[in-house]
Amino acid sequence: MTVKLTQPLDDVVIGTQEKSFLRNLQANILKGHGREHVALLFLEIRNATRARQFLHGFPVSDAYTQLQEVRQFKATRAPGGVVRLVFLSQSGMAALGHDAKFQGFGAFSAGMAADPQVLDDGATDSWQAELTQPLHVLLLVAYHDEADFARIVGKLAGDVGDTAASGFELRFVQEGRAYKNSDGEGIEHFGYVDGRSQPLMLKTELAGEARTVYDPEAPLAQFIVPDPLVPAGTAGFGSFFVFRKLEQNVAGFKQAEQALADTLGLVGADRERAGAQVVGRFEDGTPITLDRQEMGVPVRNDFDYGADASGGKCPFQGHIRKSNPRGSSPGGLDFDKGVQMARRGITYGCRLQDPDSKELIDRPNDGVGLLFMSYQASIEKQFHFMQTQWVNNEGFPQGGVGIDPIIGQVGTLPQSWPPVYDSTAGAVQKLFRGFVALKGGEYFFTPSIAGIKNL
Ligand code: HEM
Repeated sequence: MTVKLTQPLDDVVIGTQEKSFLRNLQANILKGHGREHVALLFLEIRNATRARQFLHGFPVSDAYTQLQEVRQFKATRAPGGVVRLVFLSQSGMAALGHDAKFQGFGAFSAGMAADPQVLDDGATDSWQAELTQPLHVLLLVAYHDEADFARIVGKLAGDVGDTAASGFELRFVQEGRAYKNSDGEGIEHFGYVDGRSQPLMLKTELAGEARTVYDPEAPLAQFIVPDPLVPAGTAGFGSFFVFRKLEQNVAGFKQAEQALADTLGLVGADRERAGAQVVGRFEDGTPITLDRQEMGVPVRNDFDYGADASGGKCPFQGHIRKSNPRGSSPGGLDFDKGVQMARRGITYGCRLQDPDSKELIDRPNDGVGLLFMSYQASIEKQFHFMQTQWVNNEGFPQGGVGIDPIIGQVGTLPQSWPPVYDSTAGAVQKLFRGFVALKGGEYFFTPSIAGIKNL
């Protein structure tokens, strides 16, 4: 195996070694699949023999095919095919007799429901009933065409729902659909560009990035690990995967944004700075820590907080500053970068969108949100660390900062909000929280293709 895990993958010219590595790796880890429609089918194993047979025959999408499709799309604009992925939880591994191979992986071993530090108020009371049942296997299907997607998912749901034949009980189907703004950038339900900042592990992706201030380059080893499921003496890689269904109270958030703008005395276009302080970026994706003039598409990711040490531009609790301090945490730059996961989430729920301006018009207070999904080499050192030591931690990066106003889960300290750009003078203390609720989730492992065949 000549693929070096200590660096990004050189996918400019794919040699024989790289090709066999990529053919054995599931798609979506190295780069997001980009399809606009996603279905997550949560399954409980009823008959291990039949479930194994089903998974052996499931046409899993590999990373090599995905990269070829990306090239094809760039050349011809022809979209790629259906994406099909497989994930197993620790309880799924146990049902198939593989739990011994996955001991010692901390949070993964016990499952998310048994991880009170990442639950709202430490319990699963906020979870929807379907997601409190055993979630052994997750199948993800994604496609660009809505009508064909519905047919493909319907057929698959019928197949896995036939318990006598498949060995599974279909517990729940969760659909996701992407929304884009008028620049064609993906947005989440509060209306902000999302998915822009990512650690990048492919040379082709790095080639398109400005990297003078903040370099998103990341080694493969930050996302993939040797797969314990492959036959002895062979190699294959998998990835730990976090799923969280996060419901967003859009009406409440938008009201709170306005209330914060009022409290800060912001007027005119400057009122947008209230929400931008909460997120750390303006709705169009412009980082608040940069000058407001520096807009454009694609939005900037080449920034850090070096010139904003007091938090006068982007407050310390701003969502993107809490979740990626970019070298301004006590751990330093390499540490902060090493915590980052490959985020592959998609929004769920339907919104009313203006066909011309692409603005999301309605303001639901439930039924919409984010299907947060991330790949990492270690749940403990990445997702779990980020959620518990950074975003939920009122004392990070320094005492009295408060929780992340979007995804912080427990917290009573008011956060500090500067009314004037680039100055903390007269900062207002106000608690901003409670507009995102965890409706369920689980920790999974994404096996290699050979690992699935060897289940
Ligand atoms: C409903 C829930 C969430 C919403 C509305 C949300 C929204 C956003 C938005 C608008 C951005 C800026 C765009 C970008 O830089 O990609 C962002 C970035 C980010 N989010 Fe979230 N997010 C949510 C959940 C989470 C969760 C659960 C985590 C991890 C525990 C997380 C971690 C991050 C990270 C690491 C970044 C990139 C920060 C950077 O590198 O500058 N987010 N999020």
